[in-house]
Amino acid sequence: MNKRAEDRVFIFDTSLRDGEQAPGCSMTLREKLRVAAALRELKVDVIEAGFPAASPGDFDAVQAIAGEIDGPIICGLARCNPTDIERVWNAVRSADRHRIHVFVATSEIHREHKLQMAKEEIIKSAVSAVEMAKAHCDDVEFSPEDASRTELAYLADVVTAVIEAGATTVNIPDTVGYTVPDEFAELFRYLKQHVPGIDDIVLSVHCHDDLGMAVANSLAAVGAGARQIECTINGIGERAGNCSLEEVVMALKTRAEFFGVGTGIDTRKLYPTSRLVASITGMHIPRNKAVVGENAFAHEAGIHQHGMLKNAATYEIMLPEDVGISQSNLVLGKHSGRHAFRERVRQLGFELDDDELNRAFTDFKSLADRKKELFDADLEAIIMNTGTGIQGPWQLDELNITAGTGKIAAAAVRLSHADGQTISEASVGDGPVEAAFKAIERAAGVSADLKNFEVRSVTVGEDAQGEVTVTVEYNGQSYRGHGISTDIVEAGARAYLEVINRICRRQETGADRAAEKQQSIAGI
Ligand code: KIV
Ligand code: ZN
Repeated sequence: MNKRAEDRVFIFDTSLRDGEQAPGCSMTLREKLRVAAALRELKVDVIEAGFPAASPGDFDAVQAIAGEIDGPIICGLARCNPTDIERVWNAVRSADRHRIHVFVATSEIHREHKLQMAKEEIIKSAVSAVEMAKAHCDDVEFSPEDASRTELAYLADVVTAVIEAGATTVNIPDTVGYTVPDEFAELFRYLKQHVPGIDDIVLSVHCHDDLGMAVANSLAAVGAGARQIECTINGIGERAGNCSLEEVVMALKTRAEFFGVGTGIDTRKLYPTSRLVASITGMHIPRNKAVVGENAFAHEAGIHQHGMLKNAATYEIMLPEDVGISQSNLVLGKHSGRHAFRERVRQLGFELDDDELNRAFTDFKSLADRKKELFDADLEAIIMNTGTGIQGPWQLDELNITAGTGKIAAAAVRLSHADGQTISEASVGDGPVEAAFKAIERAAGVSADLKNFEVRSVTVGEDAQGEVTVTVEYNGQSYRGHGISTDIVEAGARAYLEVINRICRRQETGADRAAEKQQSIAGI
């Protein structure tokens, strides 16, 4: 066990770096700040805010998070070269607590086919990167990428060398999600035995979920001495994703007597944070997902319900309120005032500033006019939309649809622009949704290629709100937008307009940052 952290596992969240790197998960700077603020409320120990050398957009986001988010250590990722390390340092230096994370691949397949570097060259490069980072900041993390497929003796040599060079955290990644729990625990025990000084640093674990074992492998590493877990909200990340933060944290909490180590996470913030990330990225949470899925605490079978009524512990190993799922699901209606609304928002775990609260309250009132009862899920959907969909420049003022069996669907829209102009347009289409999308495209003067259209019901009942997520391609980039309404054509139109707005904003900044980023990180 590490001397520095006998009874504590540090939670290192990489949703904004490894998570954001996943296709379709890219976030705007404002969205990243929102997620970072939620991670601070969740009390994660480290936020890996991005990969500053990947693009100017990544640099700006890491710098903004370092400047605004206090509490957690703010970390940036760098390859083992001076330019990357300088970029990270310049991005994180304004944070009260900062970390530089450097990495290089060590496995034979990466050495030969990606890097074309010999074992000794890699050790040299790792050592000089740690020394360079150390010249800026005391807190330096090193990762041997693809560690789980690296020869054990060589891995021990690399880890020994970077500890001598000053690394304070050494992270062992299962980059391709290849390992299994027993084997991975063995690897950690081997390092503990063969690396001098390993008890003076924090040993960390970073698992991918290609075989569905990221959480199990991370827990096995903790059992063998790891004291930092790298993970993401909802397990978002490259390919099948990373270790899911909510699952690994609740496993440590629920089985505390087995693991004997806890985290500093405020678990009541898990559910709202999970919903926030799902809403921003558009990566919906499966109903049966552990810990935060809608069915995680639902009991359908009669025999289970009978047991639950006598004693909840018969079928529930965690309390829903411990992960931030409200028990009461209190219903608000159109007569509920601002005070009750604010209280409920707070109970649901959201911190809104006055402006956000006012906008959310206006949306709440207009929904309450159309819907008899508003459930927590309705409120959550409103809050998510308030935070992510109000940036303009275009706003939907009016939408009229004509459709019916055997009739040509037609839509008329009126959009207003932040510069004051108002444009009305109409179009026909194969159905009401297509007609609405075409009318919006004409009004905004932007035409995109629709790739995906998903609808889900936010709550149950006839007047339930529908949430629509659309994904489009424009100039080779993927954009995603969400909209909610009790009318799914309107929800679709709002989602499409959000996408158009994202395209317009990107055009205004003049930088196609996602493209730059792809180019810059190709080959990592
Ligand atoms: O999966 C991986 O190996 C990584 C490293 C950069 C830590 O993400
Ligand atoms: Zn990774």
